This record gives sequence, C-alpha cells and structure tokens, in this order.
Amino acid sequence: MVTEKRILVSPSLLSADFTRLGEEVREVQESGADWLHLDVMDGRFVPNITIGPLVVSAVKRVSTIPLDVHLMIVEPDLYLEQFQTAGADILTVHPEATHHLHRTLTRIRELGMKAGAALNPSTGLESVMHVLAELDVVMLMTVNPGFGGQSFIRTMLPKVRALREIIDQSGYEILIEIDGGVSPGTAPDLAMEGADVFVAGSAVFGHPPYDEVIRKLRCEGLSTHS
Ligand code: DX5
Ligand code: ZN
Repeated sequence: MVTEKRILVSPSLLSADFTRLGEEVREVQESGADWLHLDVMDGRFVPNITIGPLVVSAVKRVSTIPLDVHLMIVEPDLYLEQFQTAGADILTVHPEATHHLHRTLTRIRELGMKAGAALNPSTGLESVMHVLAELDVVMLMTVNPGFGGQSFIRTMLPKVRALREIIDQSGYEILIEIDGGVSPGTAPDLAMEGADVFVAGSAVFGHPPYDEVIRKLRCEGLSTHS
C-alpha cells in the first residue's frame, strides 16, 4: 500500500546556542518543530556530560510543544520522578542502562509520561520485543550516543525497516524515532524505511533558517511504502 504520513521533527537542543536557549526554543517552535529533544548525559553511560532536570524545567517554561527527553544515564529509575516534575512529556531510556526495562517503562507511564526505549547501534531489536505493550516510542540510534554532529551510520537502515515490520505486525501504536546524523540528505531513506520522528541537532541549529530545514526533514511529497 502507498501512503503519505506526516513525519514529526524533534530538534535537539544539544546543538542550540545555550547563551540564548529561550530564544532558540521559541524560534524552532515558530519554525514548525513538533517536539523538543533534550539530551541528558551523565558521563558514565556516555562519554559526555550535558544537562539535567534544571534545564529541562527552564525549557518547559518557554515551550508550547512536547518535551522529548532522552536519558543517556545509568540507573535511570532513580530520576524518573525528577524528570516528570521538570516537565518531560516523553521520557526515553536505554535498555542497556537498566536491569529491568519492563519495570522502568511501566513506571514512566504511571507517572503520566509517554515511554520510550532508545537502542544503541549495536543493540538488537530483541531487547524491546517483549515490552512492546509498554512502549510509545522506540528510538533507533544512528550514531553512537554522546555527541552531536556525528556521521549517520547507514548500515542502520535495514534495522529501521525490520522494526517497522515488527511494529506493524504487533498492532501497537508505537512511533519509530531516529536519532543521530539525520539531515535533509539522510532523511528520505529513513522515511522510506518507515521512520516516524526525526531528531536533528546540527542539521537544524547549524543550518538556519530553521523553517526551511524542518520542512525538508519532513520529506513531504515522499510516498512511503507500508
Ligand atoms: C547524541 C544525541 C543526539 C544528538 C544528535 O547522543 O542523542 O540527540 O543531539 O545530534 P545530530 O543531529 O547533530 O547528530
Ligand atoms: Zn538524543
């Protein structure tokens, strides 16, 4: 069947100008962003340290769209309530970072947020196969997490297609989000393989005007096969 669906764009604030964070948030919102992606890194799960709940709550005060919070931290269970209080709408954890993914996802939903699982490039889809009922989003990493501006790993394209098939056959409404190296150059292939949401940091904040790049990332007019 040939269908046309609306791709969602979630600009990653990691590549924004932090000296003018509020303005950057307003600008991407006015430029058509659907979600705002916030990358939380602890220097343990990934080799970088970024922001925590304090910055998430500051962004919440100026945002009008859902906050898509990506936890790249060990022991995420210890911080779920803090991120809920800070204003996260979608909270995504890495299965590699929690011993009991089912429990973590269940708790995220109990707290009233949408639950996501983010898979490193080397992590197989089996890690989410038995928790599909608990998931709103599966995020496929197309770079090794830790930094913005890295090159897209093209060999991840078949993984997107395989996940699309698993989700479609499951009957659950789960969005496939792609994070890492997404640009107007890589987005069309990802859309063709069945992606629903694009995170983009350097491609948006490094290439103004934001409305133009966000429009390109949506891949409008591209017919995707499902
Ligand atoms: C990387 C982060 C990404 C990052 C993407 O670990 O999870 O969200 O900001 O940056 P780009 O779009 O520049 O690859
Ligand atoms: Zn991210």
